[in-house]
Amino acid sequence: MAQLAGKVALVTGGAKSIGRTFAQGLAQAGANIVIADIAEGETTAKEIATGFGVAAIFVKCDVSDETQVRQLIAAAIAKFGRIDILVNNAAYFAAMPLHPAHELPVELWDKVMAVNVRGSFLTAKHAAPHMMKAKSGKIINISSGTAYKGMPDMAAYVASKAAVLGLTRTLAREFGPHGINVNTLAPGLIESESLLENPRHLAPTERILASRAIARKGLPRDLVGGLLFLASPASDFMTGQTLAIDGGSINT
Ligand SMILES: NC(=O)c1ccc[n+]([C@@H]2O[C@H](COP(=O)([O-])OP(=O)(O)OC[C@H]3O[C@@H](n4cnc5c(N)ncnc54)[C@H](O)[C@@H]3O)[C@@H](O)[C@H]2O)c1
Repeated sequence: MAQLAGKVALVTGGAKSIGRTFAQGLAQAGANIVIADIAEGETTAKEIATGFGVAAIFVKCDVSDETQVRQLIAAAIAKFGRIDILVNNAAYFAAMPLHPAHELPVELWDKVMAVNVRGSFLTAKHAAPHMMKAKSGKIINISSGTAYKGMPDMAAYVASKAAVLGLTRTLAREFGPHGINVNTLAPGLIESESLLENPRHLAPTERILASRAIARKGLPRDLVGGLLFLASPASDFMTGQTLAIDGGSINT
């Protein structure tokens, strides 16, 4: 299973919820871990280091702030000398208030875009030169099935996750000649720790379950196999693509 032994994976929004499951999955496959989050992540980093026998650090970072992202990448390079895998998982999502578009405050729109789109751009912008030097790298952007299907009361979020698809395709073309793969993982509704704390996001669960070919709840661990595929040499000839993990919802 240790197909990522010696690699360094940076997971944004990795302190808790789906991001923590991603960091654990990458560590279980042998990667050393950098967790970046606005939430406290020291405990997660320590648990990962102890639990999986890898090196793991936490860097407090707001991914929408370029200065902080520069510091994040510098801290990762100072500790490990390389970044092999970047998982752009941080998002303004579970804690985000829900509004119909005609009542959506423009400040909320801007914040969602700043974290979800600018944040993914900034981490890629500052990690890519190090991947280019190494002539290899894997960037995995986390979008959402809502980008394909739409979701009432979430216009900014859905637009931000659709923007991530376009960002992926363009970065794939720009970075491909440098040996860097850029792909998107698009989960369907996942019963994450954060959504259980914000249950209004789970309100459409019954309707979403009915749309699935595999009509059961999705859990964070359902995403790990796809993530490891996109992070590993198994996906070396795949770039600019989207892997939807949603129980078959966007195909049915
Ligand atoms: N849970 C789902 O149903 C679902 C479905 C599709 C896509 N997703 C995506 O999966 C990812 C994880 O979702 P989740 O359910 O764990 O929700 P979440 O809201 O808890 O995850 C976001 C993580 O990002 C961190 N974060 C927020 N703002 C940040 C910032 N400015 N800088 C750095 N970190 C920041 C949060 O502290 C949290 O750890 C998100 O990208 C989300 O959009 C989730």
